[in-house]
Amino acid sequence: MIKSIITGTGHYVPENTVTNDDLAKVMDTNDEWIRERTGIEERRHLGRNSELSTSDLGVKAAEMAMKNAGLTAKDIDFIIFATLSPDYFFPGCGVLLQQKLGCDTIGALDVRNQCSGFIYALSTADAYIRSGIYKNILVVGAEDHSFGLDMTTRGRGVSVIFGDGAGAAVVSANEEEGRGIISTNMHSQGEYAEELAVLFPGTIYGWSDVLLEEDNQITADQIYPHMNGNFVFKQAVTRFPESIKEAFEKSGEKIEDLKLFIPHQANLRISQFVQRQMGLRDDQVFNNIQKYGNTTAASIPIALSEAVQQGRIQKGDLICMTAFGSGFTWGSVLMRW
Ligand code: UT7
Repeated sequence: MIKSIITGTGHYVPENTVTNDDLAKVMDTNDEWIRERTGIEERRHLGRNSELSTSDLGVKAAEMAMKNAGLTAKDIDFIIFATLSPDYFFPGCGVLLQQKLGCDTIGALDVRNQCSGFIYALSTADAYIRSGIYKNILVVGAEDHSFGLDMTTRGRGVSVIFGDGAGAAVVSANEEEGRGIISTNMHSQGEYAEELAVLFPGTIYGWSDVLLEEDNQITADQIYPHMNGNFVFKQAVTRFPESIKEAFEKSGEKIEDLKLFIPHQANLRISQFVQRQMGLRDDQVFNNIQKYGNTTAASIPIALSEAVQQGRIQKGDLICMTAFGSGFTWGSVLMRW
């Protein structure tokens, strides 16, 4: 039976490190508040004047993933690109990756599921692989958040959390016993769409013509990311365990056998809460939010790539990846590496 395995992983983060103290120079915040509430110590920012864009970050991560898979751009049958910070409003980043990598004129799909973007993208890749349609799919999560964050005190509740970066995985068809994606689940609850969102431009609050009006009524809340942090936190700590349990129930695997849990890196407190709820040991959970902040669709593939580099994942290991975020959307992928 055909199953999906990950044959190569890669990641890239910009060189520019922004510490909590650096943020305290431009807004009313401090290292103690950020560490205590989120666990974040520093993050990477491309910055407003960078020549690189989100698709360029994706290219760097994808090149590493293809190299590690022993494949070239010509071997890739399909691209799935997840981001909330695309180069253009449209078209999406998938086609830019196709062109920049020099892939054939293969299909390129864009996923707009924010923090759950990589989980949705990986689940979709898995369905295409198991159906026999494609053999090698490049799945990428990349974000250039720093371009659109409100770097004043007004935006501190959001801006201190997010960082830039990209992660990628080559998902390939495999018939070896005891390996591959075992179960996936994806969920959404659109009634909370505006609890974590960028509202403008869009067909509800306004489009380009509104921007051109001299007396336009656009507010900072509409153009910058808006997050009801407390509410998102409470929902996250409920949905994470639900989704993990569902992944295990569908699979026949036992949570005691889990080698590594890779949560979306939203907040260290959320990951620690979920760890306690699930009864997992420290060595069973991967956290790197301390270094990179929350990189949204890039967070799980960056963590996955680092975990592989550190030798924390070996062939046949049971791995669970789970995310929750804007939409709200959430979901998990459970696999034997
Ligand atoms: O990946 C997408 C999913 N996103 C998440 O999972 C995020 C979930 N939420 C969270 O992680 C937390 O809610 C935050 C870290 C965003 C905020 O932590 P909190 O404990 O919920 O703080 P709060 O929003 O209730 O704010 C507490 C206080 C407020 O001041 P007052 O009203 O008590 O005087 C804020 O104005 O902290 C203030 N505050 C800050 N102070 C210093 C908010 N942001 C900052 C800041 N520095 N950066």
